[in-house]
Amino acid sequence: MRKKLVVGNWKMHGNRAANADLLAGIVSAGPLPCDAAVCVPFVYVADTAVSLAASSLRWGAQDVSAHEQGAYTGEVSAAMLRELGCRYAIVGHSERRAYHGESDALVADKAKIALGHGITPIVCVGETLEQREAGQTEAVVKRQLSAVIHALAHCAGEMVVAYEPVWAIGTGRTASPEQAQAVHAVLRAQLRAATAQADSMKILYGGSVKPDNAAQLLAQADIDGGLIGGAALKAADFVAICRAAT
Ligand code: PGA
Repeated sequence: MRKKLVVGNWKMHGNRAANADLLAGIVSAGPLPCDAAVCVPFVYVADTAVSLAASSLRWGAQDVSAHEQGAYTGEVSAAMLRELGCRYAIVGHSERRAYHGESDALVADKAKIALGHGITPIVCVGETLEQREAGQTEAVVKRQLSAVIHALAHCAGEMVVAYEPVWAIGTGRTASPEQAQAVHAVLRAQLRAATAQADSMKILYGGSVKPDNAAQLLAQADIDGGLIGGAALKAADFVAICRAAT
């Protein structure tokens, strides 16, 4: 049985006071029945590391540089994040693929460098509405995941995968549990062909997960948790989703 993992993706939201309230609200809810983490904007990484030092709630980043170090203005390296205790880095979120032109190859490099520094990459894959309607969902997610599998090679079993249909992100339109499970099963099969660890790997679902749809989504055989955007900004909702995960 895989332990569920629920990860909040705060995106570009928050401020110091609001973040402190949000984290206090989650932590004060008591022990969560699943593994849980928050992925915060870079500028709040240090505050978060201090706030969560004694908590079982983990934290991560929303991106990481594909480079070790050097003249890369504005970038944040995996070593810098790890120095502060970072556990996860989201890579290849569809917003970065769409607005920052991130390619499958770049996403794979980021996943590799994160893992090399002891940070678990949360590798996002997902199709647009246009691709779904054209019957390309499977081909798109397999292509995106394949680039990372090849880059990580024998370490592929150490990543977390997140299936996030682009049309379901921030739209309130979530994939049905059956639609999500069908894609997760495809991803699991692809992982099985690549690594003996596939059955213990976590594949998260993301896209308009809320307290009222979480239980059904997370009950699917190959859905091992959630990557939560909007609902992760309210402590009560985030905690409710974590509780729905078991
Ligand atoms: P959402 O975002 O829950 O607000 O749809 C999910 C994500 O983009 O990770």
